[in-house]
Amino acid sequence: MNNIEALKEYAIENQVPIIKDAGLSFLLEQIKTYNIKEVLEIGTAIAYSAINMALVGPNITTIERDQKMYNEAIKNISDFNLENKIKVIYQDALETFPLIKDKTFDLLFIDAAKAQYQKFFNLYTPLLKKGGIVICDNLLFHDLVNKEDLSDLSRSLRSLIKKIRLFKEDLANNINFDTTFYDIGDGLSLSIKK
Ligand SMILES: C[S@@+](CC[C@H](N)C(=O)[O-])C[C@H]1O[C@@H](n2cnc3c(N)ncnc32)[C@H](O)[C@@H]1O
Repeated sequence: MNNIEALKEYAIENQVPIIKDAGLSFLLEQIKTYNIKEVLEIGTAIAYSAINMALVGPNITTIERDQKMYNEAIKNISDFNLENKIKVIYQDALETFPLIKDKTFDLLFIDAAKAQYQKFFNLYTPLLKKGGIVICDNLLFHDLVNKEDLSDLSRSLRSLIKKIRLFKEDLANNINFDTTFYDIGDGLSLSIKK
């Protein structure tokens, strides 16, 4: 499949969670604004966001722990002839640091397990250049993050929402980054490394 709209349709039909249109536009806009050359993405899925990013310029290193997703990502990247621009690492991102520790990045895009955002952030922001940016997706988590009364939700969902709230709070208070939150797509943050 080498048509980006068809790839999006495939993801929707097969319930593969991909970045929303508004979030993707935001992401691609930042890539241009900040002249991003090297991206580290946590959470490849079928490489929809990675392919979109690579098509506007930068090289992408992206990490995926699910084998089926990884296989589909590899196939899609090959269909788009982007093997030279996108490197997919098949591993849990919490284990990948030693493999890429000598690289530096201009953009860290976090779009994987929501409960682990703080760990991903702590692990990979040291690889970010000064003036580099971090973008996190799903910080509204279907608007549940702003929901006052969580009592009708399952215990695991409540725990996840609390983790996302805590992550946002820590991000807002992190003096090493200037962070802005955007209520677009499923909720995004943009943090600039000082
Ligand atoms: C929301 S999807 C990524 C969507 C993709 N960025 C896009 O917009 O096209 C999240 C992906 O992260 C993967 N994932 C979750 N936790 C991970 C981890 N700890 N390490 C690597 N991949 C992970 C999941 O298997 C899933 O495919």
